[in-house]
Amino acid sequence: MAKKDALKTIKIFDTTLRDGEQAPGNSMNIEEKLRIAKQLEKLKVDVIEAGFPIASDGDFEAVKRIAKEIRGPEIAGLCRSSEKDIDRAWEALQYAGERGRIHTFIATSDIHMKYKLKMEPSRVLEAAVKAVKRAKSFTPNVEFSCEDAVRTRLPFLAEVVAAVIDAGATTVNIPDTVGYTIPFEYFNIIKYLKDNVANIEQAVISVHCHNDLGLSVANSIAAIQAGAGQVECTINGIGERAGNCSLEEFVMALRTRHDILPFRTNVVTEQIMPASRLLSTITGIMVQPNKSVVGANAFAHESGIHQHGMLMDKSTYEIMTPESIGLKTSSLVLGKHSGRHAFKKRLEELGYELNDADLNKAFNRFKTLADLKKEVFDEDLDAIMTEEITREEEKYKLDHITVTCGSFAVATATVQMEIEGKPFRTAELGDGPVDATLKAIKKLTKCKAKLLTYNVGAITSGTDAQGEVTVKVAEGDRTVTGRGSSTDIIEASAKAFINALNRLDVMKERFEERNAL
Ligand code: KIV
Ligand code: ZN
Repeated sequence: MAKKDALKTIKIFDTTLRDGEQAPGNSMNIEEKLRIAKQLEKLKVDVIEAGFPIASDGDFEAVKRIAKEIRGPEIAGLCRSSEKDIDRAWEALQYAGERGRIHTFIATSDIHMKYKLKMEPSRVLEAAVKAVKRAKSFTPNVEFSCEDAVRTRLPFLAEVVAAVIDAGATTVNIPDTVGYTIPFEYFNIIKYLKDNVANIEQAVISVHCHNDLGLSVANSIAAIQAGAGQVECTINGIGERAGNCSLEEFVMALRTRHDILPFRTNVVTEQIMPASRLLSTITGIMVQPNKSVVGANAFAHESGIHQHGMLMDKSTYEIMTPESIGLKTSSLVLGKHSGRHAFKKRLEELGYELNDADLNKAFNRFKTLADLKKEVFDEDLDAIMTEEITREEEKYKLDHITVTCGSFAVATATVQMEIEGKPFRTAELGDGPVDATLKAIKKLTKCKAKLLTYNVGAITSGTDAQGEVTVKVAEGDRTVTGRGSSTDIIEASAKAFINALNRLDVMKERFEERNAL
């Protein structure tokens, strides 16, 4: 077994807020991004890629706020290899001082150069060097990425890497942009660069793997075995298409197999579960139950043989402990007699840290819920956090809802909403109370979105459990998920639909701004 001090430390570069946020349904507003960044700070990642500042005003503001407010990790901002992108990135990143990192990129594969950039390799090389020099005029901390590196001709890749290191890049990233490589091949690419780039030791080699073939974690491990020193990853593996290398899987693989992998990270693994939960709570996208490390079943033992083994000795079927990822089974169930202190403490154990105003809001909602149901579980607290705390700046809000229905009645819903701060009310008939409610919301918001799926489930057990509704809504080619919870499932349905409409709104705004690039 390798001794701890013999382990090489791999830098963790988290791109949840940039590559992760680019993925459908994962758009976040500035406050939401800041919450994630604070959790990443607790997780002790080495670098937070906070966004793509020139992409939109929202991206710019988020990077700036994170650069101002987060202490500890370096803060990176992405930019293409153009002067205006780089200048804009630094305008936001400057507040992080020495911890600000400019991350500039250009594609180097023949396919991308010919069809996307329509540039000759020599011009791409020139642009890369110019970009690094420009970035270097602002900060010593410059990362350069050869987009689609895996499909780049190796001699050209080596030439670009050598040139950008000469120009001052301190990190060179070799991304598998399209999730195409396999561990053996990726190992050889990194090894080739180590063997053929004379100045390679002057920079950290970074890897950035997409998961199109389900190999992103395996490829990242192969890369560090070949000499890479930084791994780019995201919480819950979110990211473009099939996602990015999952932070929790990569980090726990190193921690669990340090007997044969002589590497470590600075990540506080006990903060993994709170990070995963927070992200799901904010985006409304839950991880699949069998997801490695953070899935609901990752530590569940169902079969008799497994349960028997676990009772004898946990090591029979458990390769890592739930505690090591911060999964705490609570002995504390909250109820209507629970005080503010117990409430705050449990929220903190779940990874939520609130200021006084947010704590008051959440506590009031908790008291209302505790009056309706006997026991309030962790899942109920997650639902409270989703609705009361993470959805502050939304355009549409539900005020009141009254429904009449029954086997002889035509279902009627009267809905009052706040739209951009002003109250509006209407009533609609429908084919059942949910249909009537959603019709009323559509009328008030004048939305043309189509409901694709509607699912309702109970958050916990018992007839007093909160119902949780998840909807999938589409407008044109944009699809979003919305979630809502309440002890009244009609209200939960209304909240879920309104949550989806708010997400569509954020997505539309982002899309318009990014398209104007
Ligand atoms: O996948 C990719 O190549 C990227 C780069 C911009 C680093 O996200
Ligand atoms: Zn990427």
